[in-house]
Amino acid sequence: MMIARLLTTAPAATLAFTARGAKKFSPSISTGWQQLHQHRQRHCRPRYSFQAGLTPATPFDDGTSPFEITTPIYYVNDKPHIGHAYTSLACDVIARYMRLSGRDVYFLTGTDEHGQKVETTAKNAGMDPQSFCDEISQSFRDLLTLLHISNDEFIRTTQQHHKEAVQHFWKQLVEKGAIYLGSYEGWYSVRDECYYNESELVDGKAPTGAEVQWVKKEDSYFFKLSEYQEKLLEYYESHPDFIAPESRKNEVVSFVKGGLKDLSISRTTFDWGVPVPGDDDHVMYVWIDALTNYMSALGYPNMEEGSNFDKFWPASLHVVGKDILRFHAVYWPAFLMAAGLPLPKRIFAHGWWTKDGEKISKSLGNVIDPVELVNTYGVDPTRFFLMSEVTFGNDGDFSDEKMIYKVNANLSNELGNLNQRILSLVFKNCNGAVPTEIGTLIEDDKVLLATAASLLERTGEAIATQSLDKYVQHMVSMVWDANKYIDSQAPWVLKKTDTERMNTVLYVLMEVMRHIAILYQPLMPSSSNVILDQLSVPKEERKFEHLGKEECKIVLGREVDKPTAVFPRFEVPVGEVVNA
Ligand code: MSP
Repeated sequence: MMIARLLTTAPAATLAFTARGAKKFSPSISTGWQQLHQHRQRHCRPRYSFQAGLTPATPFDDGTSPFEITTPIYYVNDKPHIGHAYTSLACDVIARYMRLSGRDVYFLTGTDEHGQKVETTAKNAGMDPQSFCDEISQSFRDLLTLLHISNDEFIRTTQQHHKEAVQHFWKQLVEKGAIYLGSYEGWYSVRDECYYNESELVDGKAPTGAEVQWVKKEDSYFFKLSEYQEKLLEYYESHPDFIAPESRKNEVVSFVKGGLKDLSISRTTFDWGVPVPGDDDHVMYVWIDALTNYMSALGYPNMEEGSNFDKFWPASLHVVGKDILRFHAVYWPAFLMAAGLPLPKRIFAHGWWTKDGEKISKSLGNVIDPVELVNTYGVDPTRFFLMSEVTFGNDGDFSDEKMIYKVNANLSNELGNLNQRILSLVFKNCNGAVPTEIGTLIEDDKVLLATAASLLERTGEAIATQSLDKYVQHMVSMVWDANKYIDSQAPWVLKKTDTERMNTVLYVLMEVMRHIAILYQPLMPSSSNVILDQLSVPKEERKFEHLGKEECKIVLGREVDKPTAVFPRFEVPVGEVVNA
């Protein structure tokens, strides 16, 4: 199989052995990707003028306030797959970056356990819904542990507190006159847990391809969504950054412009849901129940001063898949407007993963199990690949070949090898300690150190706009610069000719590596910390505030151990050719 290289995929570095046995990094190989990257840096001006804060401030985040970041809560009708892992990982990278910047973060994820889909799946499995939910919800928590996800809370919609919060929210909507009793008949997709108009159906199916069923006329409570069409459009207009990326925002705007009908928000034909207050014949529509999790986890309806709700609401960022943007960018803000509560600051919809170019589905048998992925490649290479392979917001395609290619190139060959070269040279040539006799810095040293010093600002801007792939590109490119520097300075040659200069070069490289490892922590927490251990950087000096502090620089004379390899190398399966 020939695997075409994506433009965003960095090519493998060529490793050649120099006469002295040190591995040489050849910059010429990276031209295509690197040129594109440099072109973007020069010509694609950022949309925002970033202001200083703990993280760069944007029109939708002041860069300083407490930061609630959320994943969607996942349905428990099946065990987790790569899509769930992806959303959780993206949020984890942002949450960790924010914390290391000094922001107060509340990172929320959880499971969505009510509704017809879960009820039916449990029944088919011969289990009562609650035991079924308990089991599957646990597999989502296990996945978080496996992926080193740093969530602050895991909410389950079957928790008593959550159910009470949703009922309170419902009563608020009733009080504000936003809910009325009527009757519903129409199309419903259980898989999407979504109502569709006749005009939206494509060949008798939902636009997502899901089966739909006709719901016979039944009593239902309605939310007066039709009253929010203009209000929502005005809101999108006055808050141009509320929905991202731009292309998805345009889809939402046209959907709303197409007209909003009142929304059926209760059902009487099944039981697995939160009962409607004062009318036990009805259970709430699963989406009104699910969306409220973002507030109930913060203790809503307790909104007292000093409460978590007071501190973290409105949420700074809801990260969702493109499939559920309508619920978050139309229904959710309309519910909140009706209840008189502040709206989240931003909703970012990411794309979907396919496998070898095909849609992932159980029936095709190509579901990617994130547990298998981690068992095969390790947690950090998995995190690295998923975050770097696609522009965050676009769809992406997974293949083992691309994964192997990328982690071998960017992690094993470039980052791991660089670290090993620097520390082996220090260990062997400087008596196992950071050299003490350092000479005056020359221009090349200053340029590399300045690039490293600007990495915090550049990665911060990428994170502030959820350009996760750009964040990784900045990191990869920094490693390229350091590799070019070590090759041109050739400290293994200086060892014979000028030890003071060799010491200086190695010191500069250790300091640059300190920046790289500190700033790689959000993406690869374990490996970065192994590198920081090898550099003898104290645990309490690994936050972003320590990057620029004089007293936190690599300490002259501090002992270093013999380095060990941080990233494994993987073999491309026999018969597979990577088209470079
Ligand atoms: N329970 C609702 C969300 C309620 S939030 C108030 C739900 N759950 S879900 O389990 O079906 O999917 C949640 C999310 O998983 C999707 O929005 C998306 O973020 C992620 N993904 C599921 N499949 C995916 C891919 N194939 N690729 C990438 N992510 C996708 O919807």
